[in-house]
Amino acid sequence: MTRSHWLLSQCGYPEPMGAGLNLPEGPRAPRAWQSLGWQKRPIPYLERCRSKYGKAFTLRLLGIDPFVMMSRPEDVKAIFTAPPEVLHPGEGAAILLPVVGPNSILLLDEERHMTQRKLMLPAFHGEKMEALRGLVTEVASSEVESWTTGSPVPLHPYMQGLTMEVILRAVFGLEQGERLERLRYLLGRMLRFGMSPIALIPQAYRLGRLHPDLADFNEVRAETDAEIQALVDERRAGGEDRDDVLSMLLQAHHEDGSPMSDEELRDELMTLLVAGHETTATELSWAFERLVRNPDALSRLVADVDAGGEEYVTATIRETLRRRPVLTIAGPRRVMSEIEIGGRTYGPGCHVVANIYLVHHDPEIYPDPYSFRPERFLENEPGTYTWIPFGGGRRRCLGASFATLEMDIVLRAVLSRMEVRAGNDGILEAHRRRSITVVPGDGAQAVLTARAERPAPTPA
Ligand code: HEM
Repeated sequence: MTRSHWLLSQCGYPEPMGAGLNLPEGPRAPRAWQSLGWQKRPIPYLERCRSKYGKAFTLRLLGIDPFVMMSRPEDVKAIFTAPPEVLHPGEGAAILLPVVGPNSILLLDEERHMTQRKLMLPAFHGEKMEALRGLVTEVASSEVESWTTGSPVPLHPYMQGLTMEVILRAVFGLEQGERLERLRYLLGRMLRFGMSPIALIPQAYRLGRLHPDLADFNEVRAETDAEIQALVDERRAGGEDRDDVLSMLLQAHHEDGSPMSDEELRDELMTLLVAGHETTATELSWAFERLVRNPDALSRLVADVDAGGEEYVTATIRETLRRRPVLTIAGPRRVMSEIEIGGRTYGPGCHVVANIYLVHHDPEIYPDPYSFRPERFLENEPGTYTWIPFGGGRRRCLGASFATLEMDIVLRAVLSRMEVRAGNDGILEAHRRRSITVVPGDGAQAVLTARAERPAPTPA
């Protein structure tokens, strides 16, 4: 691309057709307009593009190389199984650097990514997750007991509080006390900053004290780092055997036998917080948003919970993740060298993106895709390239089992204690974007009634 083309494109215009890349068709509107559609109304915008341009189309957003959105399972497979040196997801996540730090698994590619992933994987194995069941159940039960009953409340803030507590206890391994209080406060502030619009400007953090929010961020970050360091020092000195994720990371070793460094531990703890807190809280909020609008599914789920069953609970979690994926796309992969996908060759200068939302709402894959019907997962197991709420391949979400376990426990904790109905006359809640996630527009409004408090049935 020439300098003038580049300048024009950054001012809001896509490069002229034929200038360099042979990408699938997509909207011809200025980049600023496309960015607005993608930011403000992501779901209708994606649907419109697919109906106009088909299952592979190109979005041109401000300040970043084009995104080629793909939703054919065979294209998704090609993305998830491409060699690590050909597609780089890590580069696309650089925006998270100030919060998660340079060693974060989210930001790395190729060898360095694999090294971190191998260190972290054992902490997320099935039996390790099962060992955390008791702790997560305890946290969920005490949180749910504290929720307001009898009047409409948004469930999303409750779920955020709950998933934060789970991360502090099960990942950071904190016990009730001063350090937990302090870290809950500091990490909450770090996350709020990460969600603010100014955090989307990559250079913003270097401006330091020029902006009050940023000055604050640097201070909060320094304090948070000091608290995490103190926690790590204490745990290294203690040496006890525990079930939390930090314990597993402290036991992990590089190939040369050296343990994870303090910097690696700090960055990966922050990564797990960023990747695991808001995502799980939002998905749980969507679960209730969908359930209160689908009474048949809700009563079947309550019956399964009461009977201590598993099948319908699991099917409901899968259907929630299909119908309302909190991330509409898997990590965009920057193309580093030529790759053929769907009969077209892609080269450097664009990203290929597995579009989770569009795969999950393809009537050729899921008949009647807009209905919420957990039964579809009683009939069929989820497919590797057709059910992709956790992405796939060597970048598949490390916390998928953790998130599923947590959703299972929270659904049971709520439904065994409360009756839940819609809090806003059942009016549909629109999708609202919150940073890279999409959340229920009104926070998943619901009315909770303690089940024990239900009026006794009137005698006939
Ligand atoms: C319902 C909740 C969650 C959803 C929907 C979700 C979804 C995702 C997605 C789509 C990716 C990108 C995969 C790709 O690009 O192929 C990802 C990556 C990741 N997730 Fe999750 N996630 C959730 C919860 C969690 C939790 C609870 C944790 C940990 C405590 C976690 C840790 C991670 C990590 C470390 C990665 C990066 C993996 C890598 O790059 O190798 N996630 N997640």
